[in-house]
Amino acid sequence: MHLKRKDESGRHYRTSCPPVHPCLSAPVRVQLFSMDIVKTEDLVFEYIRRDEEGNPTDVTTALDHVDIDVRQGEFVGILGHNGSGKSTFAKHLNAILYPTEGTVYVGGMNTRDDDKLWDVRSCAGMVFQNPDNQIIGQVVEEDVGFGPENLGVPTKEIWERVEESLRAVGMLEYRKKSPNKLSGGQKQRVSIAGVLAMHPKCIVLDEPTAMLDPSGRREVVRAIRGLNDVEKMTVILITHYMDEVVHADRIFVMDKGKVVMQGTPREVFADVPTLEKLRLDVPGPTRIAWELKKKGLPLPDGILTAEELVKEIEKCR
Ligand SMILES: Nc1ncnc2c1ncn2[C@@H]1O[C@H](COP(=O)(O)OP(=O)(O)O)[C@@H](O)[C@H]1O
Ligand SMILES: [Mg+2]
Repeated sequence: MHLKRKDESGRHYRTSCPPVHPCLSAPVRVQLFSMDIVKTEDLVFEYIRRDEEGNPTDVTTALDHVDIDVRQGEFVGILGHNGSGKSTFAKHLNAILYPTEGTVYVGGMNTRDDDKLWDVRSCAGMVFQNPDNQIIGQVVEEDVGFGPENLGVPTKEIWERVEESLRAVGMLEYRKKSPNKLSGGQKQRVSIAGVLAMHPKCIVLDEPTAMLDPSGRREVVRAIRGLNDVEKMTVILITHYMDEVVHADRIFVMDKGKVVMQGTPREVFADVPTLEKLRLDVPGPTRIAWELKKKGLPLPDGILTAEELVKEIEKCR
């Protein structure tokens, strides 16, 4: 079967899936100089609004000296209230935006290096909030095949990639279905499969569950965790749902363009007062443990799950 190409205007391209570029007819060689898949050094980004004459009228510093590194195979959560700079950060990993100051390395490549634009975009695959904007195929398996086809992957390998990607997100049995018939969570898993099929080194998900109902959220989070646990994919999950990053290796918390907290989930969630100040909630069991501790129960900080909470309460008896 022949796969339809996407709109050549690029309007409907997944941002991680640029139009065919001559240098991509050969296999993409991504040189890694370290184990860091993503590294930002002193990253500053300013949105500058201009009047009709082009004079700056307003400057928003969306990223303010941000240093974030993500190692190969890690699951990193990025948390922050609306407007804290999370999406602006994500857009730098796909070279949609370039630093005003500082440097962004993706797969060892400086995103400013024009010659590496397509390699950078192939290295960091992006998934966005709204699955309806990301799915364009009439049939699930065709949609997932668009990305590798645009990368110039041979047809036989495209189908192998489609199969492995749909399997990885638990959607293989829906391969012949129309995406219109799927639930929000299923559509978002198809979007993720579409990115996986391009064999990125890292997948960046910008609030992928924000538009989903609780069951859709659960299935997408389960699929994302599976990618990291089973497929060893490097995952950067941007969210404002704390419970989605309880199992992350590390968490960065952003506020007003700065990284204000970082550490393991246990370290970050132990500091309930700071999270409250940042208007972020903490996972349910962590909050209950915190309230019980305030009432005098000798519980440790940073309880993350209901199971841990039950075990610790039993110790108090
Ligand atoms: N296109 C834009 N033009 C001007 N300001 C913007 C633009 N996009 C975002 N901003 C501003 O940059 C800051 C960070 O926004 P964003 O990265 O979208 O945060 P988040 O994803 O955490 O909600 C906010 O103050 C927001 O208003
Ligand atoms: Mg955002």
